[in-house]
Amino acid sequence: MRTPMIAGNWKMNTTVSEAIELVNEMLLGLDKIDNIDKVICPPFISLAAVRELTKGSSIKLGAQNIYFKEKGAYTGEISPLMLADLCEFVIIGHSERRLYFNETGKITNKKVQAALKVKLKPILCVGEKLEENEAGRTEKIVTGQLSASLAGLGYPNGLIIAYEPIWAIGTGKAATGEQANETIGFIRQTISQKYGRRIAQDLRILYGGSVTAANATEFINQPEIDGALVGGASLKVDQFLSIVKQAAEIRHCLSG
Ligand code: PGA
Repeated sequence: MRTPMIAGNWKMNTTVSEAIELVNEMLLGLDKIDNIDKVICPPFISLAAVRELTKGSSIKLGAQNIYFKEKGAYTGEISPLMLADLCEFVIIGHSERRLYFNETGKITNKKVQAALKVKLKPILCVGEKLEENEAGRTEKIVTGQLSASLAGLGYPNGLIIAYEPIWAIGTGKAATGEQANETIGFIRQTISQKYGRRIAQDLRILYGGSVTAANATEFINQPEIDGALVGGASLKVDQFLSIVKQAAEIRHCLSG
């Protein structure tokens, strides 16, 4: 059975002291919930402090981005080597990076490779725009993003995929559980064709886009959906704890 995962993407929010405060508020509650992967992805500058705070707990850490070179004259960038001993996961190809920083499939592909090389587990984001969704092009778009990002890679061990329809991110307009389940099922099929059924069955695929405490169960209850990548609601202690608890309870019911 795939271990569910709830990952909180804090995006460009919190100063270092605010991050420390937020983690301190979540720590005890989150640590107690088991049978599920709980990941927080604070801004780069807070990773070291958050790592200290979460040491010895069951909370895992992720970064929100990575550069694909190991080191050198790339002013302002953060390399895989710098992240490797700070966190376990890294979000790659988030739609905000594709949109505001011109990240193409070629770049996400290099980033996935660079992450895997230092054993960071990529949370690779894919998803379509509203007009693409309305034109019935979701599967085509998602297939294109997957094949570009995974081009030339043998099975990327540790890979996690997040299906994030762009029209649902930060808009309060989430997909329905059924819609997300259908596309995630399609993503699993695509992975199965590329890497085989066994690998596809073991791959964790998350849903992301306006997940809150009020709708989390609708997604996590779906057979193809293995958890959520949470933006806005991951900055609110009650919301995030509730989402993680809901996922853990569903997991408990399934395995119990
Ligand atoms: P949101 O963001 O939950 O605020 O919609 C999700 C994401 O961008 O990962």
